[in-house]
Amino acid sequence: MPRVTGLRCRNCGASVPTGPSYVCGACFGPLEVTYDDEAISATLSRRAIESRPAGIWRYLELLPVEHVPARSLPVGSTPLHRADRLADDLGLDRLWLKNDSVNPTLSFKDRVVAVATARAVEFGFDTLACASTGNLAGAVAAAAAAAGLRAYVFVPADIESAKVRQALAYGATLVPVAGTYDQINRLSLEIADEHGWAFVNVNLRPYYAEGSKTLAYEVAEQLGWRLPDVLVAPIASGSLYTKVARGFAELVRFGLVEPHDVRFVGAQPAGCAPVADAFGAGADRPVPVREPRTIVKSLAIGDPADGQFAIRQAWSTGGSIESVPDAATSAAMRRIAALEGVFTETAGGCTVGAIALARERGVIRPGDEVVALLTGNGMKTPEALADPVSDALFDGDEIRAGVRIPATYDAFERWYEEREGASAA
Ligand SMILES: Cc1ncc(COP(=O)(O)O)c(C=O)c1O
Ligand SMILES: [Zn+2]
Repeated sequence: MPRVTGLRCRNCGASVPTGPSYVCGACFGPLEVTYDDEAISATLSRRAIESRPAGIWRYLELLPVEHVPARSLPVGSTPLHRADRLADDLGLDRLWLKNDSVNPTLSFKDRVVAVATARAVEFGFDTLACASTGNLAGAVAAAAAAAGLRAYVFVPADIESAKVRQALAYGATLVPVAGTYDQINRLSLEIADEHGWAFVNVNLRPYYAEGSKTLAYEVAEQLGWRLPDVLVAPIASGSLYTKVARGFAELVRFGLVEPHDVRFVGAQPAGCAPVADAFGAGADRPVPVREPRTIVKSLAIGDPADGQFAIRQAWSTGGSIESVPDAATSAAMRRIAALEGVFTETAGGCTVGAIALARERGVIRPGDEVVALLTGNGMKTPEALADPVSDALFDGDEIRAGVRIPATYDAFERWYEEREGASAA
C-alpha cells in the first residue's frame, strides 16, 4: 500500500493526484503532500528508527518518496550541540544548537533537495533546477552530481562568491540573473513548464518542503524522544519554520513523543523582514519587500510563499517572529564561534540574534529549553565578518607582508612582547 496518497490544497482542501504539481487548479493555493496514516503506523516505531543507519532516510515512512534512493549523498543526523557558554551569555539555562552547517554542501538545504531529488527520479525527470538565494544552488548541484542528473541553478547576481564557486565545482550550469530571488522565482515557473525540468522549490515544492521535517525528527530523537519548549528557526520563504512544526505534530500523532507545547520563534533580517514586520503589526499577511538590503542573503526573500502560515503559527503557539539588524547578526556569528566553536553563516547569526529579542519580548523565559537551528556554514559567508581589524590583515586574498613575522624564535618573542605589552597598556 503506498504511503503517499496525493496532494491537498492548503487553502481550500481540494485533492490533487500525486505528480509534479504545486498549485491548486481551483484556487491557486499551495499544495502539500498527504499520507496514509495506517500505512505509516504499520512499520514506524522508535525501535525501527533507531535500528536504521544515520541520515534522513531513517524517517522514510514520513517522507514523500517510495524508496530510499540508490544514489544520494549522506544527509542529516547532524549534531545537536549543548551550548552552555552561549546559554549563559543569553541568560538561558538550557540551549541546544542543531548544527546543520555540517551537511554535505554545508547547509540544511541538502535535506529538502535530497527528498525533491529522490522524488524527481521517481517521476522520471533528467534535469534538476532551482531558484536559489545561494545555499540551494550548491545543494542542487551536488545532489544532481550524485544522482547522475543535469543541473541548472538560477541565482541573483549579487550572492556570495563562495556559493557560486561551490555550485560550479559540482558541474552545474549557473544562470546568474540580474534580479531578486522573487523575480527569478517567477521566471522559474515558466521555464519549468516549457523545458520540463524539475525545479526543486517550484514544481516539486510540496515534496521538497517535506524534507525540512527531518530537522524536527532529529531534534526530538536527539533529545531522547522529547520536544523542547522553544524552537528557533530562520525564515526566508517560511517553509522550514512551518514544516518543523508539522514534523513535531506528526511525532505526537504517531506516538513517538509525548505531546508538549512548543513555541516557535522565527528569525528574519531587518533589511528583508516581511514576515516579522507583518507579525509585529498584527497583520495576517506579509507586504512584499521589493529590494532586500541585508548581509543575510540566504534569507533575502521579499515575497515569502509561506509567510501567512508562518505568522499564524507564531501567534497560535505563543511564539514570535523577530526582525534582527545586520549588526546583531554578525555580532552573534562571532559569539557562537567564540563561545561554542561553531562557525555558522549569516542565517545562523540572525537566528541566535532572534533569541535575544524574543527574551526581551518575554516569549523566551530563562528556564525554557531552547533549540536553535543553525542552517548554514560560516565558510560560505566570510564577507559578513569584514571589520577593520581582520581587513587590516589582508592585501587582496593574502596576509599583508607588513604583518608577517620571520620564522625564528627571536622574532616570535619580540612580536609576543610587543603584543602583550600593547594589550596590557
Ligand atoms: C541557510 C538558510 N537557512 C534558512 C533558510 C530558510 O528557508 P525557507 O525558505 O524554508 O524559509 C534558507 C533558505 O534559503 C537558507 O539558505
Ligand atoms: Zn485550492
